[in-house]
Amino acid sequence: MFINFEGIDKSGKSTQISLLVDYLKQKGYEVVQTCEPGGTRLGEKIERILLEPSTKEISGISELFLYLADRAEHVEKIIKPALEKGKIVISDRFADATIAYQGHGRELDIPWIEELNKRVTHGLSPDITFLLDISPNLAQKRSGSEGKDRIENEKISFHQKVRQGYLKLAKRHPERIKVINGEGNVEEIQLTIRKILAKHLRRKKNYVL
Ligand SMILES: Nc1ncnc2c1ncn2[C@@H]1O[C@H](COP(=O)(O)OP(=O)(O)OP(=O)(O)O)[C@@H](O)[C@H]1O
Ligand SMILES: [Mg+2]
Repeated sequence: MFINFEGIDKSGKSTQISLLVDYLKQKGYEVVQTCEPGGTRLGEKIERILLEPSTKEISGISELFLYLADRAEHVEKIIKPALEKGKIVISDRFADATIAYQGHGRELDIPWIEELNKRVTHGLSPDITFLLDISPNLAQKRSGSEGKDRIENEKISFHQKVRQGYLKLAKRHPERIKVINGEGNVEEIQLTIRKILAKHLRRKKNYVL
């Protein structure tokens, strides 16, 4: 079972993942919690290049291929081995993020990115995706005076394009991508996620929540 969480920065991904991972572990499931970028040793190095503000502006294509390199390593070293052992893998971002950020945000060719995603993931797609949807204005309020990374430092219009990109993607894949209003309170959002997941898992014999 492969689950990814998506959404713009500060949409609440880490908060919700951590609650869900605790819950699933309590239920006795073996869970691997991971993330992109940075889920592997190489990925951590790539993440630093991508997110440090000192990298400044880089070409959209360079950015795209750095994320894809991170993903290739992540699939091969972390996600596939864990799935082969029957574990539940929960990733903070996956291939959808590249469509939203580099496709919609940087305006690179989306069918091309989809093709590249397929290549680097060997066709691996999540079973279910939780898209936490919040407005970029709220995201900015949530981040407060914290130091921002290179992508968070982008203009609000960039984050708006990314948000809309994610919503378009959800419309194209309604079976897989579940849009969750991320502006509500943490506990209610978590309950919604658990309900959707339980419904989804009922269809799969090996899982009961
Ligand atoms: N539903 C919520 N209501 C209010 N505040 C929230 C909610 N969810 C998360 N927060 C707060 O907003 C901030 C960002 O949340 P979190 O780190 O979970 O988001 P994120 O999507 O993982 O962000 P990033 O993209 O930076 O990793 C944190 O301070 C968190 O406590
Ligand atoms: Mg986070």
